[in-house]
Amino acid sequence: MKQKIDILVTAAEIQKRIEDLAAQIEKDYKCKHLVVVGVLKGAFVFMADLVRCINLPLTCDFLRVASYEENKSTGIVGMEFDMTQPIAGKDVLLIEDIVDSGNTLRYLLKHLETKKPASLKVCSLLYKEMNKGMRDQIHYIGFTIPNRYIIGYGLDSEGLYRSLPYIGALRKAFLKE
Ligand code: IMP
Ligand code: MG
Repeated sequence: MKQKIDILVTAAEIQKRIEDLAAQIEKDYKCKHLVVVGVLKGAFVFMADLVRCINLPLTCDFLRVASYEENKSTGIVGMEFDMTQPIAGKDVLLIEDIVDSGNTLRYLLKHLETKKPASLKVCSLLYKEMNKGMRDQIHYIGFTIPNRYIIGYGLDSEGLYRSLPYIGALRKAFLKE
């Protein structure tokens, strides 16, 4: 499988960065009760590793949006299922796998703001450097990456590659048009 993929970030580098992010989150939130909300499916691997490094009382919830067709952003975002706990008056940390065009994040922030959380911050494993537009909406970024199609560590291409322990980019010949 490896010849299809350029490895961009190794499993060890991911783990190290997660420890740094978790330390920053602990410092910022001190002993507040956090609601950590993961965006399915892409964020599940990152969120599982991140929450296990955050030494604070927290609860986890998930929501799911559909925003992508094949390897391209359609620009259309819809809620597939919403989270279950109320977040009014709570400190919410939204966990994303990647912010690309920013359409999904824009939609999610608008949606979550209507639920009146006490605070709402965003932690994204990856940020595509091309799209500087949403940068100031993301409080914690794992890695800034080049504008390539990314797979592994939760990210997929047609459902495959989510279980890879590293972050990689599909080589051009293997990209879907
Ligand atoms: P955006 O709305 O364009 O920012 O895209 C957000 C969503 O599209 C992410 O949460 C991912 O699920 C998916 N996505 C964007 N870029 C990639 C990529 O390079 N690989 C895999 N999924 C991606
Ligand atoms: Mg996603």
